[in-house]
Order: sequence, then C-alpha cells, then structure tokens
Amino acid sequence: MSAAADLDALLAEARTVIQDAGSAQELAEVRSRFLGKKGSVASVLRAIGTLAPEERGAVGQAANQAKAEIEALVKARKGALESAAESQNLSEHHLDVSLPGAAPTRGHLHPITLVERDMCEFFKGLGYSVEDGPEVESDWNNFGALNFPEDHPARDLQDTFFVEGSTNVLRTHTSPVQIRAMSEREPPFRFIVPGRVYRYDLDPTHYPMFHQIEGFCVGEDVSLGDLKGTLYAFARHLFGEQAELRFRAHFFPFTEPSAEMDVSWGEGWLEWGGCGMIHPRVLLNCGIDPDRFQGFAFGMALDRAAMIRSGIPNIQLLFDGDVRVLEQF
Ligand code: PHE
Repeated sequence: MSAAADLDALLAEARTVIQDAGSAQELAEVRSRFLGKKGSVASVLRAIGTLAPEERGAVGQAANQAKAEIEALVKARKGALESAAESQNLSEHHLDVSLPGAAPTRGHLHPITLVERDMCEFFKGLGYSVEDGPEVESDWNNFGALNFPEDHPARDLQDTFFVEGSTNVLRTHTSPVQIRAMSEREPPFRFIVPGRVYRYDLDPTHYPMFHQIEGFCVGEDVSLGDLKGTLYAFARHLFGEQAELRFRAHFFPFTEPSAEMDVSWGEGWLEWGGCGMIHPRVLLNCGIDPDRFQGFAFGMALDRAAMIRSGIPNIQLLFDGDVRVLEQF
C-alpha cells in the first residue's frame, strides 16, 4: 500500500473513533494513538526516508494535513463532550426558583415586654420619664432611706434575698429607684420605673423574680386626689373604661397615708398594688424639703397585668421560656 493510501485509511479511522470517544479520557487515548510520538501519523512520517525522493514532499505535506485535521476533530469532540456534560449537570442539579422558600421562624416580644411598653407609653403621655435602677441594691436604698427601721418586721415581710458577704440585697421592690432619682434631682418631676424585683416566694401566682412598675410624682401642690386620678386613668387604660378601683387603708413605711388598691375584675376585685403620699422623712432622706414639696407614689406587679391580658393562669408559664407557650402571643 502506498503511503498516501495509508494516510487516507488512517484519517477515515480517526474520524470514526474520535466521534465515538465517550469521555475525555477515551478521547485523550485516541489522540495519542494517532498523534503521539509512537502514533500512526508519526510512523508514516518516519517512513518517509524509505520513499523515492520525488514522493517525499507530497507525502510529508499530506501527513501534516492529516495531523491538523485530527487535531481539529479532537478539539471539536472535546467541546461537544464538555457541553453535553454541562447540560446533563444542569438538568440533574437545577434549582427551581419558583418553589416557595423555607420561611425562617420569626421571634416576637414577650407578653411582659408588651405590657411594660404599653404602660410606659401611657405614662409618657402624662409627662412621666422612664427611670431605671440596679437589681442588686444597697440595704440603704432598698430599706433604710425608705424609712424601714432597723430590725423592723417589714424587712422580713418581704422575704428578702441577701447577697452573701455584703449588706446588699436583690431589690425587693422598685421603690429604691425613688431614692436614687429623688436624691439626684430637684422637684418637680415625675418618673415611671418598670423592672425586675426578687422575693422568696413560689406558687401559681408568685415567682421569686417578678416585675413591678413604680410611679412617683413630686411637686409643690401634689395631692392624694392627683394620685387617685392618675391610678383611675391608668386602670382604665389597662383594663377598660368600666374598671373601678377600691382603696384599702394600709401601712408602708415610705408613704403616709398609705393604701392598697384593688381593681374590679368581673364580679370581684383583684389586688393590684400599693400607693400613698411619699413620707416626709423619705423626702428629707433625699434632700427634698417636705414643707415645700409633696409627692405621691405607687407600685404594682406588672406580671399580673400580663397574665390577665394574655389569659395565662400560672405565672411560671411566663418565665419558663417554653416557646410553645410564648408563641401563642
Ligand atoms: N413598694 C411597695 C411594694 O412592693 C409598693 C408601693 C410602692 C407602695 C409605692 C406604696 C408606694 O409592696
């Protein structure tokens, strides 16, 4: 067979096997079979030396053309294999952007926070500022300055948590913030103080940590009537226009006179908190002249308002942090 016929046969074979190569690896093998150093085209070129001198040029040229054609076929096949692989990949791993996404669970405010914010907004409307104080409090701010005598049974009444190794306590009420705010300022002023307080107590309506909201107002002509008017407005904001209040004479060392108040609830009454006119000695302890200024103060549990509003029967449910409960509000 002539060298030219060899090359034609070789090219014809190359066209089919290249077309049949099913993978990049197979294609690489096919390529080196035809174009490698020991490949078929190379052996045709090597044999040129055995040809008659006048044939050599034509065969060399034909061999180079065959080489170029095979190279082009390999390249085309490589491209075809790659795009087939890509479209297979796309059809297997495609993303349906029209499917609904997984909705992230969204948090919301705790029932206590909701009630607290609502209360503060109400009092801001009456010209009160929101004041804050620490939960670990000195004995003086929690008791002494509020006119609790040393060893007075009232200190025991509150089932105090004492801080080991110091005279500090976990505040048993928000009233110490009265002392802090009044010692730093000149009347007239009005403050509202929501916050956590601590007492050693646990049953369905009591928890060792709970929330109070304290309010106090000091000025030159502040009366018991102002206190009652404020509390009526507050109760009706929280519990509705039909809400009634009942005041029962009571004792607090830091107010005089003092009362406990109940709010009407259905057929009955609900214990709501304490209130009174700020005791002159408390004003004096804060550097305020009781002959010139008077003030009223009140304090109530905030958790109870949250329980009533959200229909939660047990205070512990508010603080267990069980998402299944809290999700309902
Ligand atoms: N601090 C009192 C308590 O916790 C409530 C109170 C506040 C009473 C202000 C009178 C005035 O029981």
